[in-house]
Amino acid sequence: MDNNLLLEMKQIDKHFTGVHALDQVDFAVRKGEIHALMGENGAGKSTLVKVLTGLYGKDSGQIIFDGEERSFPTPQDSQNAGISTIYQEINLIPHLSVAENIFIGREPKNVFGIDWKAVRSQARQLLLDNGIDIDVTQDLATYSTAIQQMVAITRAISQNAKLLIMDEPTSSLAEDEIQVMFEKMRELVAKGMSIIFISHKLDEVYTICDRATILKDGKLVGSYDIDKISRLEMVSKMIGRDASNVLKRSVGEYEAKEGTAALLHTKDIDNRVKLHGISIDIRPGEIVGVAGLLGAGKTEFAKVVFGCDNTYTGEIEVEGKPIRMNTPKGAIDLGFAYCSEDRKVEGIFPHMSVKENMTITALSRISKFGVVDTRKQKEIVDKYIDSIRIKTPSPDQLICNLSGGNQQKVLLGRWLSMDPKLIILDEPTRGIDVGAKAEIEALIKQFSENGISVLYISSELEELIRNCYRVVVIRDGMNSGELTGEDITEANIMNYIAKNMKETEEAHG
Ligand SMILES: Nc1ncnc2c1ncn2[C@@H]1O[C@H](COP(=O)(O)OP(=O)(O)OP(=O)(O)O)[C@@H](O)[C@H]1O
Ligand SMILES: [Mg+2]
Repeated sequence: MDNNLLLEMKQIDKHFTGVHALDQVDFAVRKGEIHALMGENGAGKSTLVKVLTGLYGKDSGQIIFDGEERSFPTPQDSQNAGISTIYQEINLIPHLSVAENIFIGREPKNVFGIDWKAVRSQARQLLLDNGIDIDVTQDLATYSTAIQQMVAITRAISQNAKLLIMDEPTSSLAEDEIQVMFEKMRELVAKGMSIIFISHKLDEVYTICDRATILKDGKLVGSYDIDKISRLEMVSKMIGRDASNVLKRSVGEYEAKEGTAALLHTKDIDNRVKLHGISIDIRPGEIVGVAGLLGAGKTEFAKVVFGCDNTYTGEIEVEGKPIRMNTPKGAIDLGFAYCSEDRKVEGIFPHMSVKENMTITALSRISKFGVVDTRKQKEIVDKYIDSIRIKTPSPDQLICNLSGGNQQKVLLGRWLSMDPKLIILDEPTRGIDVGAKAEIEALIKQFSENGISVLYISSELEELIRNCYRVVVIRDGMNSGELTGEDITEANIMNYIAKNMKETEEAHG
């Protein structure tokens, strides 16, 4: 065996009912490298990782780790052998404290048993090293997804493993948190550790990785040195067709809708916690982007508009009529749809099928006397499985058996199929592969052409620039600026994001 290799997986095969998830896959990771595992939603990335760590058994194939042929019957075995994993689904325990989560199964001990004082102080120090200053005695569940993700990363990094596996670790992190994580990763590989990194963000892969292995439909496409494969080639290999259209960057065309009356008018929305006066108007058919840092109040604003937070003060008018948004039900009755950021928690019924998950909000529309019109239901489901390319063996598959990205597409299909007047999309392309991203963006454009308004919340500035007619920038729960047409550029958005920062600094300085 090549002594430069830490891991060699040979001819790995894995079936699920109706799905050949891994088809004779070869995969090798060198010592001290960061190796990207790439592929569309459902390509088999997470499955390959789970077969390696012993979460799934393999049908056949060979795993050579650190010079020996190994098999890991359970995740504990792979962890003992020096493999530390951050799964796509954060797999910590919400109702234990942050400190317990970091040390569970390997708590520092003293003569009396577990040394709780050490657990707390060491956990606190490890988090501080990663730029996170929080109370480690609180339950993990009390913190945001981003913090939970940083805790998972901290736990994994602190295990001093030989191989660290990160399955979409950055999906809910803000830019500065990602930078901290990248620094950590560079430190770890400098010490000889190897990292497997899964991400749909090409920028990240090109920033941090040395090599990449691409999977498509459970098969190996190939392994490449990052500096020898262009982005266009990489995406073309992932989607199996020419990618020049997918990566084409068009500036969001600005349509003069200034004269039209607003569908939704909001003024001085304040909830005393995160929102301190936000005003946004959306006209019929307009795509309005909302930009701002993590914690600026983007999601909180969406929740007010959708009736999830009735503590607000301020004005809301819908089609010229003053309205009090009290409940999501009320919002749905007004023709609003909300595809939330935290789809895992708020949206999925794991033990129901793809079909049921997708049409649950449309049921009243497609039922008569309480009986679902299955033909209409099938029409809707087929349409979205096709148009946003949901990879599932059948509409009757349980949603929990789909890959992470495909679960999200089902939920997006749910809201798209409602025929709403206004659709609020909170990070709609998070975790979604490049090909499907382009298709979702095209669908959104199509909505707007049909008169549907879109409130598009995203932390990916490029997406806002590509898709929005107007972008509202918010900061600290307040409007910070608004851009239209040609003026929607990364520099201008960043300027508004930073503007108030300077003012505050000056005020405080
Ligand atoms: N427990 C399971 N039962 C049945 N099918 C499964 C199961 N886990 C995964 N699959 C199927 O195996 C295939 C590969 O899924 P996998 O989760 O590995 O994709 P992925 O590349 O990680 O995608 P994503 O980018 O969306 O996370 C998919 O078709 C998925 O539906
Ligand atoms: Mg996955």
